[in-house]
Formats: sequence, C-alpha cells, structure tokens
Amino acid sequence: MTLPIRLAMIYGSNREGRLCDTVADWAAAEVDKSGAFSLLRLDPAGLDLSLRHPSRDDPTVAGLRQAIAAADAFLVVTPEYNRGYPAPLKFMIDCASHEWHAKPVAFVSYGGISGGLRAVEQLRLVFGELHTATIRDCVSFAQAHERFRPDGSLPEGDGAYKAMALLLARLAWWARALRDARQASAYSEVAA
Ligand SMILES: Cc1cc2nc3c(=O)[nH]c(=O)nc-3n(C[C@H](O)[C@H](O)[C@H](O)COP(=O)(O)O)c2cc1C
Repeated sequence: MTLPIRLAMIYGSNREGRLCDTVADWAAAEVDKSGAFSLLRLDPAGLDLSLRHPSRDDPTVAGLRQAIAAADAFLVVTPEYNRGYPAPLKFMIDCASHEWHAKPVAFVSYGGISGGLRAVEQLRLVFGELHTATIRDCVSFAQAHERFRPDGSLPEGDGAYKAMALLLARLAWWARALRDARQASAYSEVAA
C-alpha cells in the first residue's frame, strides 16, 4: 500500500477579512477528493510570530520547522500584493531552511487582473534557493472575488477544477519520487 503524501498547505495572507480562507478551503476540498494526501494547514494568522525575525530556539519557529520537515510536499495558496507575494508568507518561508530541501512545491494563486501569477513567479525564485522543485502547473484565480459564490463555493464547470486535478496529480508524482529519493540517500550528503 502506498503511504499518503503528507501535504502542508501554506496560507499566503494573514489579512483581516482575507479571501485566503475561501480559496484555501476550496483547495483543501479538492486535495481531499484526490485521496492521495494527508493535509496539514500552516497559517501565518494562527502563528504567534513576533514582528522581529525570531531565533531558531523560538518555540513557534521550532514547531513550524518541525511541520515543514515532516511534510513531503507543499501547496502555497497566495494572493498577489503589489506585484509580489505578502510579507507574512516570506517570513514563514525564511523561518526554515534544510527542512524544505528536495521536496516539491505547488501554487494556487489569486488576485485581481493578474490572478496572482506575478507573485508565483517571484516565489519560484525564492523556492529555488531552498532546493525545492516547483511544479509547473498552477491554479490561478483572476478577479478572484467574483469567481467564488458568497457561500465560498466555486461554480461547477469552472476551469479551476480541471487545473487543480492536474496540479495535484503532478504534485503527487513529484512527492512520491522525491520521497523515495530522500529515503534512498540523504540530500544533505550530496557533494561534488
Ligand atoms: C496591499 C494589496 C495589494 C494588492 N496588489 C495587487 C496586485 O498587485 N495585483 C493584483 O492582481 N491584485 C492585487 N491586490 C488584490 C488582492 O490580490 C486581492 O484583494 C486578494 O483578495 C487579497 O488576498 P487576501 O484577501 O487573502 O488578503 C492587492 C490587495 C492588497 C490588499
């Protein structure tokens, strides 16, 4: 029997009144439907992070690093703020280092006209530095506030369902391949 893939879903926004909850809940439901993953949510709004970059001994940071270390794959759900990604997301990313290594990262983005894609392009650079494999396929919601119904549901037939199914299938492929590879030999021991 194949073990479920431990997927950490990372929230990009901690803004009061954020749309992130709606988008993340939709994404989580699609993750559940796929049956391949066990899901853990990492939400900057629920973390007691100080305004200053905390030390590695900080209990919140230690817990966050443990959760990232335990994950096989990541799904970042992020809006676009001023052509980039929100600061709390970068803060969370920077709290860990080797815990990210040799794991895949996929993106569900949303925003106004850009659908969050400019934030995702920047995040690909950041995650490259962290030795991750970013998944080419992305789910993007342009004019996101108009796409979801007031109850948070997304109309049947929306193209995002198909895009999400492909994203999750490819994320699962990478997650299994890299989990096997990490078990076969430690990434930290790769040297010239
Ligand atoms: C500070 C700020 C900057 C924004 N900049 C952009 C932008 O550059 N491009 C875009 O498409 N949408 C932009 N938006 C719209 C947001 O992507 C949209 O409101 C989204 O719902 C914000 O996510 P949140 O509600 O989960 O915080 C911006 C919103 C805020 C609050």
